[in-house]
Amino acid sequence: MNFKETVDWRFPIPILYGPGRIKSLPDILKNYNLKSPLIVTDKNSSELPFIKEIIKNLNDFGVKNNFFSGISPNPIDYEIINGKEVYENGNHDSIIAIGGGSGMDGGKAISLLVNRKLKLWDFDNDKPALSELNEFPPIICIPTTSGTGAETESTAMVTNSELGMKQCVWHPNHKPVAAILDPELTIDLPINLTSWTGVDALVHAIESYSINSLYSVADGMAIEALSLISEHLPKVVKDPNNVESRGAMLIGSCLAGISFLKGLGLVHAISHMVGAVYNTQHGLTNAILLPAILKFNEKEISHKINRMHFAMYSKNGSFEEFYSNICNLLDELEIPKGLKEIKVGDNRVNELAKKSLKDAAALTNPRKASIDELEKIISISLDNAR
Ligand SMILES: [Fe+2]
Repeated sequence: MNFKETVDWRFPIPILYGPGRIKSLPDILKNYNLKSPLIVTDKNSSELPFIKEIIKNLNDFGVKNNFFSGISPNPIDYEIINGKEVYENGNHDSIIAIGGGSGMDGGKAISLLVNRKLKLWDFDNDKPALSELNEFPPIICIPTTSGTGAETESTAMVTNSELGMKQCVWHPNHKPVAAILDPELTIDLPINLTSWTGVDALVHAIESYSINSLYSVADGMAIEALSLISEHLPKVVKDPNNVESRGAMLIGSCLAGISFLKGLGLVHAISHMVGAVYNTQHGLTNAILLPAILKFNEKEISHKINRMHFAMYSKNGSFEEFYSNICNLLDELEIPKGLKEIKVGDNRVNELAKKSLKDAAALTNPRKASIDELEKIISISLDNAR
């Protein structure tokens, strides 16, 4: 494969892929007759040179735009309300959501709320869809990490500041009008974030494929994602300027993101709550949790292991081989051995277990977990997760 190619895909939304593809942004806006976008990104991305270039590019094409970067690494509900006010006060007609998970999630959550009186939690994943709604501002998603895979859906994870929990908001009638996958935007991502976000994508593929439901479209995406990520994640960590591997990772992350339409599992259920309580980095938290949950799910995913192993290592493998290869990869990526190393305490295990059980991702895990079992998984992951 030549990952330096420029290609357009039409599934599941228009996706423009290729190094330097960010230059297509003014054309997309023109095609949709969008004249006043609000650019939403996270606090960490706001100073990156390509953000300034994007703004300059839009200005050069005469596109009036404004910039909102008040989104934390774990987006919080009141930040979304602030963004909604900026959008409405600026009379914007669209949103360009740029960043890792947080920048894009922030933009998507803002797009659900603008120009209507509904509250953010009316769009909670657990609530029945507000099916009559269909007027949403067009949103263009531009990932700057290869991890979240959040660019093709309207789903956004936001921390409920009152409950101290992450909740998923979305609407089935709202999808991004386009995504731009430009590997060059990910080149300057520091090595640690490259590793952590890359493992997030890997976990998306493993968790979605592990769910025992008939969803072949998602399974196909997950297997291809596993193949791309296992080959190219170690390569980009060793050689961050490798555009080919950066591109393969961006595609792998996008495929894994599409695959988890099927659902996720306990890695994400627990990670969401650890992130909400301790403000930890999402992919890193997932990476630490993955081994304990693979072991917990061992029986229920035994018939899927060989296929995942083959996708990742081009040879058959048992659960033990799969597990130990994953642990070796985590070691190679210098993932800490326990949650305590990322400042997660041992005094809120019960609270984390209770909150995790309420997360939508817990419902699709192949093995149902009790509070006691969740406490055990979290306790194991505190010190010696692998
Ligand atoms: Fe994730």
